[in-house]
Amino acid sequence: MFRAVLDLFADGRIHLPPLSLRDIHDARQVFREMSQGRHIGKLVLDVGDGLGGGTVLVTGGTGGVGSLLARHLVAEHGVRNLLLASRSGPAADGVTDLVADLQDAGAAVQVAALDIADRSAVADLLTRLPGRYPLTAVVHAAGALADGTVESLTAQSVDDVLRAKAGGAINLDELTREHHLSAFIAFSALAGTLGNAGQANYAAANAFLDGLAARRKASGLPGTSLAWGWWEHSSGMTGELDAADLARLRRTGITAMPTPEALALFDTARADGKPALVPAHLDLAVLRGKDAEEVPPLLRDLVESGRPRRTRTGTGTGQESGPAHLPARLAGLPAAEARATVLEWVREQVAVVFGHTSGASVDVDEAFTRLGSDSLIAVELCNRLNASTGLRLPSTIVFSYPTPRELSDHISDLLRPPADTGTAGATEEDAAIREVLRTVSIDSLRSAGVLDLVLACAEAPGAGCAASAADESAGADELSDLDLEALVDLALDDKR
Ligand SMILES: NC(=O)c1ccc[n+]([C@@H]2O[C@H](COP(=O)([O-])OP(=O)(O)OC[C@H]3O[C@@H](n4cnc5c(N)ncnc54)[C@H](OP(=O)(O)O)[C@@H]3O)[C@@H](O)[C@H]2O)c1
Repeated sequence: MFRAVLDLFADGRIHLPPLSLRDIHDARQVFREMSQGRHIGKLVLDVGDGLGGGTVLVTGGTGGVGSLLARHLVAEHGVRNLLLASRSGPAADGVTDLVADLQDAGAAVQVAALDIADRSAVADLLTRLPGRYPLTAVVHAAGALADGTVESLTAQSVDDVLRAKAGGAINLDELTREHHLSAFIAFSALAGTLGNAGQANYAAANAFLDGLAARRKASGLPGTSLAWGWWEHSSGMTGELDAADLARLRRTGITAMPTPEALALFDTARADGKPALVPAHLDLAVLRGKDAEEVPPLLRDLVESGRPRRTRTGTGTGQESGPAHLPARLAGLPAAEARATVLEWVREQVAVVFGHTSGASVDVDEAFTRLGSDSLIAVELCNRLNASTGLRLPSTIVFSYPTPRELSDHISDLLRPPADTGTAGATEEDAAIREVLRTVSIDSLRSAGVLDLVLACAEAPGAGCAASAADESAGADELSDLDLEALVDLALDDKR
């Protein structure tokens, strides 16, 4: 029977239960978990540095945040064996000084050049570790960016970002199963938790890390994913951000964390032991100044539970708070005044996203491209416009209406003041319906069997939509060549 059991181990059909190394300082908690049967496998108390006393692998360890962490592990956690890995390895900027400092502090340091998503390179790296100092902890801080709006993402830009984070994590997860790790910590990012303009690929990669940590934890393995906010220390990822990018980040309500604060949060997270945590510095005043729809859903309770929300001051003409407040402000204004109000309001929004001090400094006839627009600015501007108008403008709106004045005219046309089209409610609803209709393809109207009806409405709106399509067949043939937007315009022109 013993031989049969050994054969099962040899075939990989059964495995030893996992061995979980825990810091001696957590002994009270560990015994509590054991007494309640909440653990899987063996629990071993570590009397060393809290990271198993062996080698700690830091992927991305030659980068901005990774190198700060390497110094912290040596200085504060007493780690004595470090393996820093990145593609550039010993050729990375500042590595010579980093290694010298770590060695002066008493650590033995190896720096390896490899792509962490390359499975055989990772396997090879792990077999080359010194027997006396087996791998006892992993910090996976490797990461890369390839930002762009969703429409502009390519297979390559998705792959580049997933590769380092998710590809690397899969390799480390699978290839370290035979090592008795005390910690497996992935550096994730807030973009995966809250979302962030232009970072769909990065968000997916980080969300993967969060899920992997939870899965590891559930199967009795160490696993922690830290969805970091923004580190103040400039790094490879944040060093390229210009003033407008930094201002945009602050407007999201996320403020930069000084290094000591971030490292202290790392220690707190280590002690907490939960699989997914968000170490980030939020600016609640900024969040409370936003309309509810602009605050990420996960943060809304946090914002609402504080002091009452501030009323936003925009152009100083009152009634500026709450969703879709612009149509309400336009209600009752004469047409010319309504257009001027929309123009002033658009200038204010443009000033905010382009980092101008006020709307007055925005030239309304200057092309957005000359103002410095990029796809992320376009998305942010579009989100602001939509939140306050109730419209669903596409993120490409600044390309279709390339100056603040043209954009404002377009919005004015969509949000007709009550004097033009009836009640304020009807204006908002009409505008919203009209935006939705623009997205409907002729094919979908045809397959839904309503194309003839729509054509009949466009051809003879005064006669009512129930007019027989057969009666209109000649006109319908001609009209079917037009897209829906042209049809709606035609119908409205007939109405005037
Ligand atoms: N800085 C922040 O505010 C912030 C906020 C949230 C999350 N984070 C996370 O913290 C981690 C470190 O970011 P950072 O700001 O310090 O950026 P960074 O300076 O660019 O560091 C990234 C590191 O990852 C390495 N790397 C990239 N792709 C790799 C691959 N395929 N294989 C091996 N190494 C690879 C890079 O070196 P090579 O290019 O030489 O490979 C570099 O050392 C990232 O995971 C990031 O998502 C940072």
